[in-house]
Amino acid sequence: MTIQALKGFKDILPEEVGLWQHIEASARDILHRFGFAEIRVPILEKTELFARSIGEATDIVEKEMYSFADRNGDSVTMRPEGTASVLRAFIEHGLQTRLPVQRLYTIGPMFRHERPQKGRLRQFHQLSVEVLGLDHPRLDAELIAMAWLILEELGLTTSLQINSLGCPACRPAYKEALVNFLAARQDLICEDCRRRTVSNPLRVLDCKSSHCQEQYVDAPAILDHLCLGCADHFAQTRASLELLAVPYAVNPFMVRGLDYYTRTTFELLTDTLGAQSAVGAGGRYDGLVAQLGGAKGMPGIGFAMGLERLVLLLGQQNADACPETATDLFVAALGEEATVKAFPLVHLLRRKGLQVAMDLEGKSLKSQMKQADRAKARFALILGEEELAKGEAVLRDMTSKEQQALPLAGEPEALCAVLVTAIASTAQ
Ligand code: HAM
Repeated sequence: MTIQALKGFKDILPEEVGLWQHIEASARDILHRFGFAEIRVPILEKTELFARSIGEATDIVEKEMYSFADRNGDSVTMRPEGTASVLRAFIEHGLQTRLPVQRLYTIGPMFRHERPQKGRLRQFHQLSVEVLGLDHPRLDAELIAMAWLILEELGLTTSLQINSLGCPACRPAYKEALVNFLAARQDLICEDCRRRTVSNPLRVLDCKSSHCQEQYVDAPAILDHLCLGCADHFAQTRASLELLAVPYAVNPFMVRGLDYYTRTTFELLTDTLGAQSAVGAGGRYDGLVAQLGGAKGMPGIGFAMGLERLVLLLGQQNADACPETATDLFVAALGEEATVKAFPLVHLLRRKGLQVAMDLEGKSLKSQMKQADRAKARFALILGEEELAKGEAVLRDMTSKEQQALPLAGEPEALCAVLVTAIASTAQ
């Protein structure tokens, strides 16, 4: 029996990789413009790191983490997100002493044992972006505008929702108001929501049951409970977003699946990926660095985008974003003598930067021309016995079918130079 990949773990096949590279290159380019530096952090961390940051009472920590005892018996976890690891590295290496405001990003696989479906995997990839050291609302707007720009430059249309989740000064009073509201409706809501009323009341607002959602229409809204500082921060974030002309909607019932958020939260949503509507999401986490043992009062904000979801969206909305790259030249050598001559020439051409293919076995002309078509070669160089006898090779433009004879005599460098010039002079 053949062995297949694990459920929710997906191979990214060669024909898909172009889209991935296009997305990553486009995002990296924008991150660079905004002053971000890449950081690469391990996939495996101490379980405690995620329990302490994401929160013990979240779905991720309660039931989705790939945690196991390693060979020493220590509990380790395959990272379910990037933020906790980036902050751990930030604290561990004292990065704030090098630069007061750190702008960091990382790209890589994350692991959550969720029920797989379209756009939801157990191994998925995130672009995860964090800024540490500044709590000014203009930064919140700048970061959201950057996320918006990443999608815009990919040619993707999404909608943006924002909210404020308050801070440790104002959230407890809101939580209490919400718990009182829920207490009066325990008979009307699902078991999960009843459980969460006690363990993590804000999360009930995210319940997928339409029946529960009907009950929550009149639930108290956090925005009516913000302290002066949080209300002002949110107002300034909104004003700054308007200055940057980023269109948004305020959703006072938007809560996040991770417990570390304070103040601004946001989600970039689409209605074309079925149940998986968020292509990116994030927010401010001003207490998280301290919670992980770092400097007290070190603010932070960030977001992550799901690359699988971006790939799906790009396929739907902008399929031509990434045209297939064509081979510059296919060298068709026929027979052993010609193949031996062509072999070092191909290497030389590749050293000069051309994308060149050849058949290493010197198969028939028909077979090789088929290969040249399959490789979408712009040119073919034919070295047959006849050509060899004449001391020539034939360069064929595969689009116009025009042919020219090139001298084979002398060092391969000479022919190489002629080919490089001939190919470069033909506009793509
Ligand atoms: P998150 O909302 O859990 O936030 O995930 C961010 C994005 O990752 C989602 O919007 C979605 O696009 C993608 N994603 C999440 N789970 C899956 C999955 N199972 N399959 C495919 N894609 C998925 C975070 O992870 C935070 N660390 C974001 C952040 C960074 N907040 C501040 N800094």
